[in-house]
Amino acid sequence: MKRIAVLTSGGDAPGMNAAVRAVVRYGIYHGIQVYGVKRGFKGLMEGDLHEMTISSVGDIIHRGGTILRSARCPEFIEEEGQLKAINVLEVFKIDGLVIIGGDGSFMGAKALSDKGFPAIGVPGTIDNDLAYTDFTIGFDTALNTALDAISKLRDTTSSHERVTLIEVMGRNCGDIALYSGLAGGAEAILIPEVKYDIDEICKKLISSNNRGKTQSIILVAEGVGTAAEIGDIIHEKTGLETRSTTLGHIQRGGSPTAKDRLLASQMGAMAVKILMEGKSSRVVGIRKNEIFDMEIHEALDMKNEFDTEMYELAQILSI
Ligand code: F6P
Repeated sequence: MKRIAVLTSGGDAPGMNAAVRAVVRYGIYHGIQVYGVKRGFKGLMEGDLHEMTISSVGDIIHRGGTILRSARCPEFIEEEGQLKAINVLEVFKIDGLVIIGGDGSFMGAKALSDKGFPAIGVPGTIDNDLAYTDFTIGFDTALNTALDAISKLRDTTSSHERVTLIEVMGRNCGDIALYSGLAGGAEAILIPEVKYDIDEICKKLISSNNRGKTQSIILVAEGVGTAAEIGDIIHEKTGLETRSTTLGHIQRGGSPTAKDRLLASQMGAMAVKILMEGKSSRVVGIRKNEIFDMEIHEALDMKNEFDTEMYELAQILSI
């Protein structure tokens, strides 16, 4: 393994920079030349590759976003795009590619591997929606951003005796809502994994209001619907005053937490290590606090196991 490349793809996530830094420095330390690809698969197809040095990844471990830039690239779903990328990789004499991104990016990693090009996936997405790994890079930072927002919104919710609905990201995965809802003491958490009953929620709000509890926070995962719409229904059914806040892309930014920086550093290094061992078609993950790698098809075929216990606990603690 003489020369490798690294790219970030799909929605950015805090900690991607720390992962890029780990790939570059771990590679250079082991005598490998490392290239950075700009703007994900799009830049790869266009040959936008640049050699990285130890100093080109200096002063980035604490920064959100990605210095390599990122893009969503529908052209890469087509075989033509994939072959174009492989041509570029061959021209630059790249022996292996590290792809940092979410499930869409991993489909790209799988396609390259299937065509015989050594590719390794590192999970970088705030959504935490990859079943094979307990955590993805960026999730913890997004969770803390959401938690900070919950605390601030609770202040004003309590002053005005309202019901505040907070919509968080996650696509079809409710983890940001569930974890931040439990940590933030939310009165209800609506996530795509569990069917909710709006009348039950309204009943709970009315009875807690009658008990003298004058403020409530409801977490809404974007996969369920919009906080604004659900807030309107709650207002109509209960007469309680509601407000809604959509956190949006603020969840994708900010300095990564210690947990995300550690995860990114370990996973980035592991990706290079397994390329050096001659492995291909693998993804890196963390399970029970241990970094591991597994076959990419197997990883992508896994179905998300919903954390029922955590959900039930959130229900119990929000009585
Ligand atoms: O996958 C990360 C994510 O932030 C999702 O939570 C969200 O649904 C989506 O990306 C938003 O994508 P975009 O930045 O392209 O609007």
